[in-house]
Amino acid sequence: MASAWAKKMKSDDIDHIYRDGRHYDCLFGEPNMSFWLDIIATYGAPVLELGCGTGKITIPIAEAGYSITGIDLSEAMIQHARRKAKDQKLPVSFKLGDMSSFEEDQKFNVVILPSNNLAHLMDYREAMNCFFRAYDHLSKDGVFVIDAFVPSLSILTKSSDEIETISEYEDPDGKGMFKITASAIYENHTQIRRVTTFQRKPDGSVSEGHLNMKMYFPQELEGLLNHSGLEIIERYGNYQKDEFSSTSMRQIIVARKKKKRDNQTGSGKG
Ligand SMILES: C[S@@+](CC[C@H](N)C(=O)[O-])C[C@H]1O[C@@H](n2cnc3c(N)ncnc32)[C@H](O)[C@@H]1O
Repeated sequence: MASAWAKKMKSDDIDHIYRDGRHYDCLFGEPNMSFWLDIIATYGAPVLELGCGTGKITIPIAEAGYSITGIDLSEAMIQHARRKAKDQKLPVSFKLGDMSSFEEDQKFNVVILPSNNLAHLMDYREAMNCFFRAYDHLSKDGVFVIDAFVPSLSILTKSSDEIETISEYEDPDGKGMFKITASAIYENHTQIRRVTTFQRKPDGSVSEGHLNMKMYFPQELEGLLNHSGLEIIERYGNYQKDEFSSTSMRQIIVARKKKKRDNQTGSGKG
């Protein structure tokens, strides 16, 4: 499993943002924990997080007293998550694994795919495999919760000459400021946004990285879930649970096993 990430992803799919958990933790803001804790208060534990990274969501859920397992394909991210949980003496099970093919020996009341992790599933087969795995790991009344961006045409059609600042943060080793900028090009036929990232280090040197993000449109996502034996019971446009609409930036979906399964849905195992 040591090189699972490298084996699965083509080398140009790996970006520096997932190579060092300490840097990842500085890059983005904090997750909306009141939303996630509310979901778990409603549907219960145990919880499984797919693509848990450094445990930014996993650890606060464990801190709130819920049983949670996190799976991630990046060894660097998992190691950092384990260190953080150990420092806080929290009993979180962090596992190296692929969200499209994992196998756990328990069922979960809540399986979450947060933080736009959906974009790491590069085609519909990977997405279906992930949804089948989620299906098979859900308890009878369990829910699968997906939090992803709505692909925005104005963002997708931006020129690749446009360079956007993603984040500026203090080096965790205290050597100065890091700055991450990015440009992107969207491929119509694959629905993949190919992002080139530039990491400017405190010494002024710049390293280039590549991150591919698959765009899933709302109707497409509903169809894939439906074919995986899942039905949407709630769909929100933001963490405040406003109704999903044409102006929503996010698609936050709560799905459960269909009460009546269609033919050819689910993996047939769960
Ligand atoms: C945007 S980060 C989110 C991390 C965490 N959920 C958070 O909110 O901070 C996406 C994570 O998904 C992981 N990942 C990408 N593809 C994966 C796969 N096929 N299986 C498991 N994890 C994957 C990456 O290593 C990364 O840690």
